[in-house]
Amino acid sequence: MNETTAASSYSNPVRQLLDEHEAFRISCNALLTVLERLQKEGYRASITTSDYAMMLRIRENIREHLNVHLLKEEEVFFPRLEKLVPQGRIKFLYLNYDHEYLRTYFEEFCSIVSDFENDRVPMHISVRRLIDTGFQIINNLLQHILAEDTVYFEVAEAGFSEKELEEMGKEMKILEAKLKEQDID
Ligand SMILES: [Fe+2]
Ligand SMILES: [Fe+2]
Repeated sequence: MNETTAASSYSNPVRQLLDEHEAFRISCNALLTVLERLQKEGYRASITTSDYAMMLRIRENIREHLNVHLLKEEEVFFPRLEKLVPQGRIKFLYLNYDHEYLRTYFEEFCSIVSDFENDRVPMHISVRRLIDTGFQIINNLLQHILAEDTVYFEVAEAGFSEKELEEMGKEMKILEAKLKEQDID
């Protein structure tokens, strides 16, 4: 998508981010179902073919969340949001920290998938690592999303003018198109 096309398909920036949160929430719930089953099965637990397919899907969802959504927030949304609130930079710092945690969990998730598919570790180790990291992702991310949803709703919708919202919406769409293009190359 070129810049003109991306800019013309403006959509409300808060809406874009909230929709992406919702998509991520759905992924987390799919992961949660598998983790709860593995936990219940205890020492008999094993990662099935359909679990593996789900792990690959989740890996792609998280990758997109990290490579697109987080950058839309960090590069376009947070800098403006922080200006709206006195000492906003400090107040919203925890949201940036969460992003760094998610990047770390994601590296671990990728290594779990890679070790599993290459048979590098026994099954019970993969199950345990998947449960540990999976719950870290779910718990921290769902809380993070909830915190952001609250902040976004309260501050952003009330604080930005229509023009600022439109500008941000366009910038996000352009950034998204650029990042997705880089991903394909
Ligand atoms: Fe975030
Ligand atoms: Fe977010």
